[in-house]
Amino acid sequence: MKSAGEDTQRGPVLEASGVTMRFGGLTAVDGVDFTVGEREIVGLIGPNGAGKTTFFNCLTGMYVPTAGRVTYRGTPLSGKPHLVTKTGIARTFQNIRLFPNMTALENVKVGRHCRTTVGALSALVRGPKYRREERETEARARELLDFVGLADTSDGLARNLSYGDQRRLEIARALASDPGLLLLDEPTAGMNPQETQQTKDLVFKIRERGLAVVVIEHDMRFIFTLCDRVAVLVQGRKLTEGSPGEVQRDERVIAAYIGTPAGSEQS
Ligand SMILES: Nc1ncnc2c1ncn2[C@@H]1O[C@H](COP(=O)(O)OP(=O)(O)OP(=O)(O)O)[C@@H](O)[C@H]1O
Ligand SMILES: [Mg+2]
Repeated sequence: MKSAGEDTQRGPVLEASGVTMRFGGLTAVDGVDFTVGEREIVGLIGPNGAGKTTFFNCLTGMYVPTAGRVTYRGTPLSGKPHLVTKTGIARTFQNIRLFPNMTALENVKVGRHCRTTVGALSALVRGPKYRREERETEARARELLDFVGLADTSDGLARNLSYGDQRRLEIARALASDPGLLLLDEPTAGMNPQETQQTKDLVFKIRERGLAVVVIEHDMRFIFTLCDRVAVLVQGRKLTEGSPGEVQRDERVIAAYIGTPAGSEQS
């Protein structure tokens, strides 16, 4: 798969520096620096309300950060989600956002929209260019449904899919925009252990296609066996980051999860 922006720039895929997001008096994300390299799988963990989803929203143009800078392969990002998608960042949502009354195939085709070029007039009269692009879009959507393991359900309505399959469908839809970076917000929430394992295998396969991936997840086993690197957010700030082994051993991380200030427990 040729990713958006590939070959245009060396260096990190994503570089966020000093990203801050305030809502009135609440600082949900506080001066976060975060870098993702080519083909890296990076975990973003932290307790509920730590600012993980808000940080994703700052990366994808859903929020314009109060302060800070985000670049994708060296290009500063605009504050408009559809432009960010076109630049090369795709995402899935913590709360699944599909078109429930459209088929699985149609949902993936919608995800391809930012890569189609045909003008309104050609679409209206269904000219040759429109028909060719439509065929390509459909072929690509079917290939992606097959890739995520949903080839057999392509004509079923999204709302009739199991929860796990809906999450997989969201990934297919995100991939349809040909991203170079995929952001997954709790991709295994509500999944059984077998589906979680399949999702892990799928993320590895996505990396093999040349993408970098950032994953928010509360399932630590999933995170620590999947990611090359893990960053920990606590109350909007990056507490630490490192290899899964380093983060797992870090007492501050354990303390943050159980709500005990680090160092407050005497041995
Ligand atoms: N649009 C908003 N307006 C006001 N406050 C918000 C908004 N979005 C998020 N917040 C607040 O920002 C903080 C961080 O929320 P966020 O959803 O980013 O956390 P999270 O780390 O994704 O948590 P979880 O693991 O529960 O999904 C929370 O205190 C939340 O209430
Ligand atoms: Mg969240």
